[in-house]
Amino acid sequence: MGLQITNEEKGELLGIIRERYGYDFSEYAEASIKRRINRFADINSFENYFDVRHHLANDQNLFVAFILEITVNVTEMFRDPAFFKCLAEKVFPLLTTYAHRKVWHAGCSTGEEVYSLAILLKENSLYRDTIIYATDINTKVVKQAREGVFPLKLMKEFTANYLKAGGQESLSDYYTADYDSVIMNKSLKKNMVFSTHNLAGDTSFNEFQMIICRNVLIYFNQELQDKVLQLFYESLCMFGFLALGSKESITHSKLRDKFEVIDKNEKIFRKIA
Ligand SMILES: C[S@@+](CC[C@H](N)C(=O)[O-])C[C@H]1O[C@@H](n2cnc3c(N)ncnc32)[C@H](O)[C@@H]1O
Repeated sequence: MGLQITNEEKGELLGIIRERYGYDFSEYAEASIKRRINRFADINSFENYFDVRHHLANDQNLFVAFILEITVNVTEMFRDPAFFKCLAEKVFPLLTTYAHRKVWHAGCSTGEEVYSLAILLKENSLYRDTIIYATDINTKVVKQAREGVFPLKLMKEFTANYLKAGGQESLSDYYTADYDSVIMNKSLKKNMVFSTHNLAGDTSFNEFQMIICRNVLIYFNQELQDKVLQLFYESLCMFGFLALGSKESITHSKLRDKFEVIDKNEKIFRKIA
């Protein structure tokens, strides 16, 4: 059996990381972060906790690998198509009332969701006057997202999602195939700004008409979820939209009365106070 880190060791390790690298993972959901530290130790053949601690404290490159292991980067184009369909049907008509729109895509991973949103905005004549700010804690995935190159073999599945999401054209209109990859069209990247941003520590950087953050809060404990929801609340204009996706919830947040529900399944809310 590999490493089974104790709560005390986990606390100490995350404290060292916070001091040394300025990243605070102490409010990530406990079971999940312990599992990931154990996995990280196995992958790197560290036999005990002291090995992990010593190497992580002294090797910056290893810390980059640690972030990759700690954060789950799974994503896909038009993931949960019903979410995108709902956005297009219930939110886009209200977004047309703004002459210019700023959207924050928080926890964008490798960018598949960002390109999906851009495509749907384009098909609904909303992309031209929209800027999408896409951020993630992980520098490596942000770089991939900016490049917009995805494996060709996934396009069949992404096309099925696109059609279920209400896509009106052909997904292949938006990319060029290059051997076993596809390169997303430049015209889609035009209004995208990619950057690293840590939801567990960094402040707001703009005011937005819509914030999308799916499959990210589930990795945080309740305190950190509350802090991040406060950050989103402060970053939204009045009547702006918060789209969290079906797996998240604001039911336990004290901010719930400051939002009205636009769609209860897809957890799409509108700031009203
Ligand atoms: C499972 S992916 C979700 C990607 C996409 N939103 C989706 O639903 O397909 C979770 C992403 O959250 C990012 N993440 C985790 N902790 C974060 C933090 N503190 N600040 C910003 N992003 C974070 C991870 O790096 C990862 O890319």
